Amino acid sequence: MASFPSYKAAITLAILLVFLNSSSAQLSANYYSKSCPNLFGTVKSVVHSAIQNEARMGASLLRLFFHDCFVNGCDGSILLDDTSSFTGEKGAIPNRNSARGFNVVDNIKSAVEKACPGVVSCADILAVAARDSVVILGGPDWNVKLGRRDSRTASRSAANNGIPAPTSNLNALISRFNALGLSTKDLVALSGSHTIGQARCTSFRARIYNESNLDTSLAQTRRGNCPRATGSGDNNLAPLDLQTPTNFDNSYFKNLVNRRGLLHSDQQLFNGGSTDSIVRTYSNSPNTFESDFAAAMIKMGDISPLTGSRGDKEKLQEFPLEVTTTFIGLLELGTVDLDRLPLT
Ligand code: HEM
Repeated sequence: MASFPSYKAAITLAILLVFLNSSSAQLSANYYSKSCPNLFGTVKSVVHSAIQNEARMGASLLRLFFHDCFVNGCDGSILLDDTSSFTGEKGAIPNRNSARGFNVVDNIKSAVEKACPGVVSCADILAVAARDSVVILGGPDWNVKLGRRDSRTASRSAANNGIPAPTSNLNALISRFNALGLSTKDLVALSGSHTIGQARCTSFRARIYNESNLDTSLAQTRRGNCPRATGSGDNNLAPLDLQTPTNFDNSYFKNLVNRRGLLHSDQQLFNGGSTDSIVRTYSNSPNTFESDFAAAMIKMGDISPLTGSRGDKEKLQEFPLEVTTTFIGLLELGTVDLDRLPLT
């Protein structure tokens, strides 16, 4: 039988590992209430003027948060430029010539640094800016949970593999969302983000020329500004929601019911499969969509690099001091062997 000290160490280690694996449990809406009381007002005013300059910017900021969270968690890694030690996410296929709003995030960061230097993470700024964008464009409000740490590294290949492509079929979409702890209902609700913003011809060309589950007059219209041949016109834009691309409403779902989804992946949500009923519900009930969307955004914001695939050893440097100290204490006692920890 194990002796008492090693039994005690095992329990301490178990508690520690549970802690390491559940950093999202630390997120809270009032995380900066003392250290940065003006955070929300500061972010909102910069987002507001950016959207006044260009209404599409709200969509772009919302998407940045999604693309951050789906690649090793909501850790701000999408914001990192390439360095000598890693190739960043900005140049990954889903982001290149597509992700935008980085200058607005820089402006928010400067304003926040002025108000409370060295306190607020960029990952949290993305979460607040996404919420503010939705609210300013007429969508639901929610309490954003905060307290994320920023990553010091980024991965282009993780971005290429982790962010779903517009060519994805329903099963692929469901399994990618499920793998991150998001349900099929979350997938449909979050896809309602495509009620705002624009897509490039290259993202929907195959659909408007080859697919039959598409309203013929929409196909005709979109072909007008998206030539069949690749190359020319690749970056020509079309609204994801043909009627109200700067209003956060439920018209995306009405479009899907009428076979007017712009992306292949959009129309997959209403194509005779298991998600048809959810789409129909949201198309009839803006309130249900809004509350499911807000709940799903909070869940997406909980995706953390330290859950699922866990953190790498470098991430230990970013743990709160007391955890790091306990851990180092156990290492010194010889009760923890770093090489045997499942932190790969
Ligand atoms: C379900 C899987 C999804 C796929 C396959 C997908 C794919 C895409 C694609 C291809 C574009 C157009 C990019 C371009 O052509 O430059 C786009 C735009 C956009 N996506 Fe998604 N997306 C998905 C889910 C989401 C989610 C979950 C959100 C937010 C929570 C989101 C928010 C947006 C927004 C707001 C835009 C417009 C951005 C702008 O105008 O700058 N998408 N998406």
